[in-house]
Amino acid sequence: MKLAILGSGFISRFYADALIGQRRKDEITTVYSRTLSNASKFADDYKVPHYTVNLKECVSRADVDAVVIGLSNDMHLDAVLACAEAGKHVLCTKPLGRNAKEAFEMLQAVEKAGVTGGYLEDLVYSPKSLKAVATIKNGAVGEVIWARSRETHPGPHSEWFWDKEKSGGGAIIDLGCHCVELCRNYIGKNIRPVEVMCWADTRFHPIDAEDNAVGLVRYENGAVGQFEVSWSFRGGMDLRDEVMGTEGTIWINNFLRTGFEMFTSGKGGDYIAEKAESNTGWLFPVGDEVNELGYNHMFTDMFDSIEANTQPKENFYDGYIVNAILDAAFVSAKSKKWEPVEIKDWRGITESKKEKQLTCYDDDYYLIKEEILPGGEKKYIVKNKKTGSIERR
Ligand SMILES: NC(=O)c1ccc[n+]([C@@H]2O[C@H](COP(=O)([O-])OP(=O)(O)OC[C@H]3O[C@@H](n4cnc5c(N)ncnc54)[C@H](O)[C@@H]3O)[C@@H](O)[C@H]2O)c1
Repeated sequence: MKLAILGSGFISRFYADALIGQRRKDEITTVYSRTLSNASKFADDYKVPHYTVNLKECVSRADVDAVVIGLSNDMHLDAVLACAEAGKHVLCTKPLGRNAKEAFEMLQAVEKAGVTGGYLEDLVYSPKSLKAVATIKNGAVGEVIWARSRETHPGPHSEWFWDKEKSGGGAIIDLGCHCVELCRNYIGKNIRPVEVMCWADTRFHPIDAEDNAVGLVRYENGAVGQFEVSWSFRGGMDLRDEVMGTEGTIWINNFLRTGFEMFTSGKGGDYIAEKAESNTGWLFPVGDEVNELGYNHMFTDMFDSIEANTQPKENFYDGYIVNAILDAAFVSAKSKKWEPVEIKDWRGITESKKEKQLTCYDDDYYLIKEEILPGGEKKYIVKNKKTGSIERR
């Protein structure tokens, strides 16, 4: 695959590290950036043969099969439209749009142009998330009742994130998009998200957008996805998930406390990990950041899908659903009520409400709880099917 990269900032560098860091048959042939100096520095660092400050020229080049978008949120729509017009496959970073309206326009544009629209939601592709989702699909945790995803750090690294007009929102749009999509993957992406209840506040920064939020997304089958996001968490980047199923539980720590701990007096002063706030004392580095954040598996899926003419696991439709959920979160944060998720074109299961599955103790009783007590005695708590009385056996 011959690739154009749009943007030469933070995420474009992570993407380039993933694209050329290991032996791959794919190559970056051109890079677009706003200034020639940034474009040429990026081209130099990653041995990219061509660079430009002209976005349309960049995506239209004959030596470009697919375009990777690493631009600020306000640029995603225009960039995607330019790729669709040029007939190029397009892979866009998160969030797809600043809102569902923009995301839907992007979805329609790629579908009309007949090109692939890949949604670069890396955390769904982290080795731990991939394993967790496969485990859930195998039935090991039973039915997922509740999934929780948390992304918190001390705040983003560029000015445009803090400007609501350019970003579309604060911690909800920036970090909540990851959490919502992780929960969708755990609960089942074909289950319709129905409504959202969200608390959000601007606690610590002189900005219009929220810097802290917690939200609950209720799905049609009764499952709940919970997102917790902050731009004021101290101590690094905390990426944790928790899945509760009827037959099992999953806890994932993707980043901050992964089992790799290190002490240094601070003489080296090297980079430790994304958003790490310190480089002295006890530290929590990340072994292979590009891989552990999911970038390698993500691009492999994207390029395999383009070659096979199939949809990548994360595509523009997913990006649109995430934006629709986040739109409802913003409304709920204001109204302080459950707010509906407005989806124009639902493509998942239409009737996913489930009958309650009750476990029978015998013909007359349901089993509520079974437990072995410290003395070895087995205790059953049961409910009479006719009278409803709760008893012990
Ligand atoms: N884990 C992830 O997937 C992840 C992590 C970080 C950022 N992102 C996303 O990547 C995108 C870029 O974020 P970043 O962290 O690289 O930011 P950044 O500020 O480091 O880089 C942004 C890039 O966009 C360019 N840009 C900004 N405004 C522009 C304009 N008006 N016209 C043309 N170019 C413009 C900048 O020059 C720069 O090249 C955002 O959508 C962000 O949400 C994703």
